[in-house]
Order: sequence, then structure tokens, then C-alpha cells
Amino acid sequence: MIQSIHSTLAYAVLAVLVIAVINAFLGLSSKRNFTKNDRSLSLVVLILSHIQLVVGLVLWVTSPLGKDALSQMSNAALRLTAVEHPLINIIAIVLITIGWSKHKKEESSNGKFKKIGIFYALGLLLFLSRIPWSNWMA
Ligand code: HEM
Ligand code: HEM
Repeated sequence: MIQSIHSTLAYAVLAVLVIAVINAFLGLSSKRNFTKNDRSLSLVVLILSHIQLVVGLVLWVTSPLGKDALSQMSNAALRLTAVEHPLINIIAIVLITIGWSKHKKEESSNGKFKKIGIFYALGLLLFLSRIPWSNWMA
């Protein structure tokens, strides 16, 4: 149950995050104004990633591939789901949250696009680096 929520929400988070990153860099290069829609898109990414964080924490406590696997760290697949994926993704979500927070303090549209673009792109790269693809796509 929790696993299927986490697994489905992963598609949503990654999809809106990719769109938000592309949107921010397009906004930056075209020098247009940062509008209400740009803000909403960035906020949807923030909210979905925060929900995914909470669901992920519950999964880590309940799944056999989470904390219960901590005693088997010589197994690379278990090390990924029990340690690397949770740790790196928490860092990624922190970066996205910092980007959101910093964009609010920027006065200019250019500054807002830049903060969202850079921090969200870093978060995206970290997510993609530690997804348990073989579990997900199987
Ligand atoms: C936006 C961030 C995240 C994305 C995109 C993501 C994505 C995924 C995906 C695609 C899987 C494989 C699911 C499957 O087997 O079908 C997975 C598994 C897992 N995730 Fe995440 N995750 C994120 C954040 C987190 C966080 C923050 C934690 C913990 C604090 C976490 C804990 C876990 C655990 C323990 C598993 C393996 C458990 C299992 O499959 O039973 N995830 N995640
Ligand atoms: C462990 C759980 C969570 C932690 C540690 C966390 C942490 C944070 C932090 C530090 C911020 C501040 C960002 C800023 O400075 O603007 C924030 C903002 C926010 N979080 Fe979370 N969050 C969590 C769970 C959630 C959940 C479950 C949701 C939604 C269902 C959520 C929705 C939001 C929203 C909407 C904001 C943006 C506020 C705004 O600037 O308008 N968070 N969160």
C-alpha cells in the first residue's frame, strides 16, 4: 500500500520537476516575467516532494528494504534502498526547499527563475542518481 503510493508519486514528482526545471531555464533565457503560473508550478513540486518525503520515511520504517536491511550492507541493492536512496533524496528535497525559500526573497524575475532553476535541477540530478530502477520498473 505505502509502497505503491511511493512508487506512483515518484512518477508525479519526477514529471513536474522536469517540467519546472525546463520552465525555469526557458524563463531565464527569454527574460520574461515570473508569473503566478511559474510560482504554482514550483509550489506543486515543493508539495509533492514533501509528501514523498513523509511517505518515504514511513516506507523506510515499514519495508523489509528499509531499516530492516541495515544489517546487510554488503548487498549493493539493499544498501541502495536502505541507505543511499533515502539519504541522497532527503538532501535533494532539502535543496528543492532551499530553492523555493530563496526564490521568495528574490525581487527580480530573473533572480526567481535562477534560484528555482539551479536548486530544482540539482535536486533532480540527485533523485535520478539513486532511484532503485530495477525494483521500480520490474
Ligand atoms: C522525490 C523523492 C523520491 C523519489 C522520486 C523516490 C522514488 C522511489 C522509487 C521509484 C522507489 C522504488 C519503488 C518500487 O519498488 O516500486 C523507491 C523505493 C524506496 N524509497 Fe523512495 N523516493 C523518494 C524519496 C524517498 C525518501 C525521502 C525516502 C526515505 C526517507 C525513501 C525511501 C524509500 C525506500 C525505503 C524504498 C524501498 C522500499 C520498497 O520498495 O519496499 N524514498 N523510491
Ligand atoms: C517531514 C516532513 C516535512 C518537513 C521536514 C517539511 C519542511 C518544510 C520546510 C523547512 C519548509 C520551509 C520552506 C520555506 O522556507 O519557504 C516547508 C514548506 C512547505 N511545506 Fe513542508 N515539510 C514537510 C512535510 C510537508 C507535507 C506533508 C506537506 C504537504 C502536504 C508540506 C507542504 C509544504 C508547503 C506547501 C510549504 C510552502 C510554504 C510556502 O512557502 O508557501 N510539507 N516544508
